[in-house]
Amino acid sequence: MAIYELKDVSKIYKVNNTITKALNKVDLSLSEGEVIVVLGPSGSGKSTLLNVLSGIDNATSGSIKFMGQEISHYKYEELCKYRRDYLGFIFQSYNLISNLNVAENVELGQQLAKNPLNISELLSEVGLAGQEHKFPYQMSGGQQQRVAIARALVKNPKVLFCDEPTGALDEATGKLVLQTIQNLNKKYQTTVIIITHNPSIAQMANTVIKVNSGKIVSITHNKKVLNAMKIAWA
Ligand SMILES: Nc1ncnc2c1ncn2[C@@H]1O[C@H](COP(=O)(O)OP(=O)(O)OP(=O)(O)O)[C@@H](O)[C@H]1O
Ligand SMILES: [Mg+2]
Repeated sequence: MAIYELKDVSKIYKVNNTITKALNKVDLSLSEGEVIVVLGPSGSGKSTLLNVLSGIDNATSGSIKFMGQEISHYKYEELCKYRRDYLGFIFQSYNLISNLNVAENVELGQQLAKNPLNISELLSEVGLAGQEHKFPYQMSGGQQQRVAIARALVKNPKVLFCDEPTGALDEATGKLVLQTIQNLNKKYQTTVIIITHNPSIAQMANTVIKVNSGKIVSITHNKKVLNAMKIAWA
């Protein structure tokens, strides 16, 4: 089943007299439960695509359906509710609260959740069992990103959006973070959408979407999906 269905979606930015078609008439269907990797050069529209899918920004025109519901006309409150109930996010920067420990940071993601996951169980799934009481400054970048993943997933979202999740990490740590995401996708059937500059990460995807100049240039479905630890890093 398609979790997202996009028809003729455009996002046009106007700054002074300059018009940028960040998304230019995009048609796209994304399947539920998959790991989807979005590749493309800087400025090609990757983050814009993430923003309109996740209701962070409105598209200028076109139809965006999430599980059959038209979300492109949602008002502010409806978009907030949509994000709160269904979506999790991680970014290149971990955005942890420095004066809260690991468990408290993850608890933040649990607020208002209908069916939250158990925090200690989730922490052991991201490889941080027994580290509940550590503070962010006592952890490596990769560990902090795994706390951020736990915080995003504790509400058991339908979709996890990841914008350059390994952008600040070295190869070994990056792979560990990706493997964590991969395990959680399998365990909870969370649809995962990863935006990256690193083409190697495409090897762990079910579906790879290439974007250029606001257009989808190719969609490929991998016959063989690699374990994140086996990726040959670019
Ligand atoms: N708020 C904005 N106002 C004006 N133009 C914008 C805005 N946000 C993005 N753009 C433009 O839209 C285009 C697509 O930007 P986007 O951030 O989606 O690219 P990206 O593929 O995520 O790039 P990167 O890999 O560098 O993060 C770019 O030309 C960018 O300058
Ligand atoms: Mg971007």
